Amino acid sequence: MASLNDNLAPAAPTAVPPTTAPGIRTDNVTRHYTMGEATIRAVDGISLQIDAGDFVALLGSSGSGKSSLLNLIAGLDRPTSGSIVVQGSDLAKLTRLELAQYRLRTVGMVFQSFNLIPSMTVHENVELPLRFAEVDRRERAKLSREAIERVGLAARIDHKPTQLSGGEQQRVALARALVNQPKLLLADEPTGNLDSKTGTGIMDLIDNFNRTLGMTVLMVTHERSLAERYARRLIFLADGKLVADEPNIPTHTQGVRQ
Ligand SMILES: Nc1ncnc2c1ncn2[C@@H]1O[C@H](COP(=O)(O)OP(=O)(O)OP(=O)(O)O)[C@@H](O)[C@H]1O
Ligand SMILES: [Mg+2]
Repeated sequence: MASLNDNLAPAAPTAVPPTTAPGIRTDNVTRHYTMGEATIRAVDGISLQIDAGDFVALLGSSGSGKSSLLNLIAGLDRPTSGSIVVQGSDLAKLTRLELAQYRLRTVGMVFQSFNLIPSMTVHENVELPLRFAEVDRRERAKLSREAIERVGLAARIDHKPTQLSGGEQQRVALARALVNQPKLLLADEPTGNLDSKTGTGIMDLIDNFNRTLGMTVLMVTHERSLAERYARRLIFLADGKLVADEPNIPTHTQGVRQ
């Protein structure tokens, strides 16, 4: 496996040229939950296309279906109807094993609540996806150290999650999402539990992954201002439907050579 740092320049302005191949395509996707007599249309016929290498924010009020849609694209859940194609793979056609491989190799995910394993050190948390991918021990150690260095946590490598600040824990989660070199980063309110300065540090890292690794980013957020600062496209959901789709010029990169 190639070293992470082979293709990692330190930061922008070394940008990966944008491609126009579709990274994600959904066609009339629905996800209905049945609760007794009631049917909740959490995702209610969403068709969208996201280019590989893009940085897209998914906005909408609480209950609008953002996490439900993200979980479908992540392969954590299956749609009630409709299709989802990611990097050329039609998720509905994958076997359970192939879907597990997809989650392991194609997608990196971060959540509002970090979801680290408390009994494991930073290093053990980050190398876990490599263990699942059966990468050999020496390579695992090297790749996880590189990912940890990339998020600036080399000095905390043997700490447990409870010995870290919230921002540091989210950086560990980012290193874990990055370690398998996935094409797609799905982030569900990644700064939701952080103060704004710490959140900005996390967003700068995600932005850096997008620019220097060419990772497609799809990020859920409540905060329009955060989305406008970083995303190149804003997609709005309401009641499980796509209600607006707008290009955006991220304000935080103004002045940075693209
Ligand atoms: N497992 C489930 N079973 C039943 N209903 C669910 C389930 N998961 C989500 N829902 C419902 O689906 C709708 C969409 O939920 P979802 O979590 O996708 O919203 P969201 O936009 O992410 O909201 P928030 O901003 O609060 O995180 C909500 O009405 C929710 O109650
Ligand atoms: Mg949510």
